Amino acid sequence: MASARAMRAALQKIAERGAQARRESTSSLLAPAVAAGTAVAVASVSTVHASDVIHAPHQSWDFKGFMSSYDAASVRRGHQVYTQVCASCHGLARIAYRNLVDVCYSEEEVKAMAEDTEVMDGPNDEGEMFERPGKLSDYLPSPYPNEEAARYANNGAYPPDLSLIMKARHNGPDYVFALLTGYKDPPAGVAERETQYYNPYFPGAWIGMPMPLNEGAVEYDDGTPATATQMAKDVCTFLTWAAEPEADERKLMGVKWMLTLTVLFGFTWYYKRVRWAPIKTRRLEFY
Ligand code: HEC
Repeated sequence: MASARAMRAALQKIAERGAQARRESTSSLLAPAVAAGTAVAVASVSTVHASDVIHAPHQSWDFKGFMSSYDAASVRRGHQVYTQVCASCHGLARIAYRNLVDVCYSEEEVKAMAEDTEVMDGPNDEGEMFERPGKLSDYLPSPYPNEEAARYANNGAYPPDLSLIMKARHNGPDYVFALLTGYKDPPAGVAERETQYYNPYFPGAWIGMPMPLNEGAVEYDDGTPATATQMAKDVCTFLTWAAEPEADERKLMGVKWMLTLTVLFGFTWYYKRVRWAPIKTRRLEFY
């Protein structure tokens, strides 16, 4: 028994020593190769990054300043572009009809808009699901029931829900504006693809979304000429509002707080001078 155990222990020790030796030799052999590989990887990652995508140019959005609010007319036009163009492929699931009230439409207008849609509700007293006209409290309908259906209809590409797209992409409004207006013919020598379109602002430069905004794709209620850039600007303003509907209120609140704190600072400063001046300047003597 004892000798068998000793033998096993000895065998194990030999095996361990062999493994260690192998580890050492491979690491010393591999070290330069690993270092070179890492260098190549780092270099190629940065080159791919640099040549793969163009950084979207900066636009002067009028909602950017800390004292500026959304342009309601532009939000309204952008909503029109979204519903008439983008909504056939993209959902906006986090926005309910009631969110649009008093932002860019009156309550009656939004109610009429909601009633135009059929919403699945239920179950009723008999346990059946039923369809009813939409209400203010309903969320905007999504075009596809699930991701698989969306991919199937778009040659495998997934049109994401646009509720938070402006926050989900670096420099959201600049990027989406550049993307919507950035469709180009592929450079000379690069073959066209069948179900993808050349757009240098999309990482990889080939996007599964056909160019959505052609001149005159919508007819604006307010008579603004519907050029591609105008529509792109309006839909970007609308989507920024959708991602951050509370922005106007938050900025107003910020201004109010800063003003209040400034006034309070004046009072506290004065109070400290009056109350503390005699205490700070008095001299205590102990005998
Ligand atoms: C015919 C369907 C279709 C329409 C209409 C459409 N899109 Fe898309 N969109 C897609 C598909 C598909 C993708 C995914 C592309 C991919 O991953 O290659 C996409 C992707 C996007 C993206 C994400 C790009 C990224 O960085 O991932 C944005 C933003 C977008 N669309 C905005 C819009 C806007 C705004 C409109 C309306 C003006 C619109 N789309 C209209 C199909 C559509």
